[in-house]
Amino acid sequence: MPTDKITLPLPDDWHLHLRDDAMLAAVLPATARDFGRAIVMPNLKPPVSTVAAAVAYRARIRALLPPASDFQPLMTCYLTDVTTPDELRAGHRDGVFVAAKLYPAGATTNADAGVTSLAKLHRVFETMQTIGLPLLVHGETTDPAVDVFDREAVFIDTLLMPLRRDFPALKIVLEHVTTREGVQFVSEAAGPTAATLTPHHLTINRNAMFERGIRPHMYCLPVAKREAHRAALRAAAVSGNPRFFLGTDSAPHLRAAKEHDCGCAGVFNAPTALACYAQVFAGQGRLDRLVDFASRFGPAFYGLPVNTREITLEACAEAVADDWPTPLGPVCVFVPPGGLRWRRSASP
Ligand code: NCD
Ligand code: ZN
Repeated sequence: MPTDKITLPLPDDWHLHLRDDAMLAAVLPATARDFGRAIVMPNLKPPVSTVAAAVAYRARIRALLPPASDFQPLMTCYLTDVTTPDELRAGHRDGVFVAAKLYPAGATTNADAGVTSLAKLHRVFETMQTIGLPLLVHGETTDPAVDVFDREAVFIDTLLMPLRRDFPALKIVLEHVTTREGVQFVSEAAGPTAATLTPHHLTINRNAMFERGIRPHMYCLPVAKREAHRAALRAAAVSGNPRFFLGTDSAPHLRAAKEHDCGCAGVFNAPTALACYAQVFAGQGRLDRLVDFASRFGPAFYGLPVNTREITLEACAEAVADDWPTPLGPVCVFVPPGGLRWRRSASP
């Protein structure tokens, strides 16, 4: 197969932040252009924690799609200490909730309403296991005594492994995995377990945040780790293991909110994500495995069909990514250090 061009079924984004209102209107076209479906994160203010809120949010998203678009937003429920099994059952039954998202309280952007203790959700997890609703996990401990670079590994040991054991049939996705320990957990866990991998965690290590100065646009949560961890993530991405699939964690914040004395966590990569993934797979000599990672393994885990439309990605001269304009101000678009030499082809 030529190594500079690939056609694949339209990928889906299994982890995405679309925001709301003017920001939603501005960033939605980037995802709707390149992806068939996306799992939409519920960390709005206030969080999307009821069926009614998810139905209303989905309607706001759909209303902003161009008439010809067949992009499908897949909605998630933000779990709180007071989420009830009935709410999840109803959302699942009505085809609204495709998954539920666990944010440990305070772990990341708009996670203040998250879960303070997993024990409080025992009945919720039991219900999700019974009805087959996947649990999407932000896998970081919030213990302030734990070093920020260790928070994923500690979360896995102290919370995720017991959860995996206690609910053996629960579908669990360790979102935006960033460590060797995370890759190992997902590879070896008994029961339906998967992980999403982001373009930025595959292309930067923690040095990128401090390259000749502080780089707020390379900062997200979980924070990028050492090079050895990135190598483990890349190996997992191209391994052909169906437990690892595409999820961009594209998370737009205004330039002004990131270039700040308390800059927000989040990388906006929706416009460049597919090119980044193609570059990573081509760089590993495994472009042939991109199609499974980007277009097949995610639908298989979620029990959905593969998209029928196709997209072509191709190598190109170095591309620049201008700031993404929004009515609120510009958003910086992620480009891996060293540049991007892949793009979406004009046809098909
Ligand atoms: C996300 C956001 O901004 O909503 N930020 C991030 O750094 N990834 C939240 C999240 O997924 O942690
Ligand atoms: Zn996220």
